[in-house]
Amino acid sequence: MYDVEIVGTGSFVPENRVTNEDISKFVDTSDEWISERTGIKERRISISENTSDLAFMAARRALDDAGISPEEVDLIILATITPDYFFPSTACLVQAKLGAHKATSFDISAACSGFIFGLTVAEQFINTGVYQTVLVIGAEVLSKIVDWNDRSTSVLFGDGAGAAVLKRGKQGIISRVTGCDGSGAASLACPAVPLKNAFCDFSQEKANVLTMNGREIFKFAVKIMPECVEKVLEDSGHSIDEIRYIIPHQANIRLVDAAVKKLQINQEKVYINIQRFGNTSGASIALALDEMSRGGLLRNGDLLILVGFGSGLTYGAMLLKWTKEGNDNGEEKNDAKKD
Ligand code: UT7
Repeated sequence: MYDVEIVGTGSFVPENRVTNEDISKFVDTSDEWISERTGIKERRISISENTSDLAFMAARRALDDAGISPEEVDLIILATITPDYFFPSTACLVQAKLGAHKATSFDISAACSGFIFGLTVAEQFINTGVYQTVLVIGAEVLSKIVDWNDRSTSVLFGDGAGAAVLKRGKQGIISRVTGCDGSGAASLACPAVPLKNAFCDFSQEKANVLTMNGREIFKFAVKIMPECVEKVLEDSGHSIDEIRYIIPHQANIRLVDAAVKKLQINQEKVYINIQRFGNTSGASIALALDEMSRGGLLRNGDLLILVGFGSGLTYGAMLLKWTKEGNDNGEEKNDAKKD
């Protein structure tokens, strides 16, 4: 079994900022409601870039950060629920854009847990010696599937991408947990093509937009996030006090606060950037991790826990030891600037 470490990260968000005030011009909402109930102040919404474009930029930055050329990449795993096409996979499009000619490439669909699922799959390939260098990307253009007339969902989501390069090396990934509860599938969904052919009844046409039962997801997340954190701690033999940062999926500040309260951890250990990006689903944890790395927050030897949940319902967590040297100058090198 080979050990696996993260040797580079990258992220990219569209330039177009959409504030709560902007959204309140076309749905019945307000900055006050959105800020208080979710923690979101603004999000980035793509004008012309599709998921593969954002993914490519984040991947390019992650490879540069790692000092690795695209030709060295053995595998690209792209987590998304907003692919450019049903097929080909967005990962194949990114492979071509990068010129990562030898990389096997595929997408995974695990919604907001997608980046953690992707890291977990990548880890297995490296553990077993099948591959040495894997690029894991979380990328979304959720604005394509948001119902912009629905105030209960349109205020929540944003577009963006994050990526990490994993390599055979030091023991960076310490423990992980993934899981699903398919009985909750209808709580957060976006239909694909309706079943409609000459051999069956025509089903009712549904618009291809996202629908969500926010309260159900909220309850699920507050229960499952602490359980996932406890599981990766137990499997690793580390205690919560040894953890430097928890990097949760950025869905809603109140939801994260409730989960953190259950874990009885110091709020300062929890990284939050939802105020600037909203919920970017599969990209959110990757985007936060890259921001932290480039912002000089992560030091060699730090223990971190990534934790997420999402449509499926899916959930997962990973306990990492940061083995990369930090950017001590605190310089931010991407578009994900702080306020
Ligand atoms: O990545 C996973 C993705 N999903 C999630 O993480 C979702 C988790 N859930 C949540 O974040 C929250 O449930 C929401 C933010 C979606 C909603 O917050 P809430 O506190 O659960 O509100 P609610 O759905 O219970 O609605 C409360 C009220 C309702 O009005 P009435 O019936 O009390 O008069 C809603 O119609 O707030 C109203 N409302 C809004 N008002 C202004 C719902 N959305 C809005 C809005 N602006 N955007």
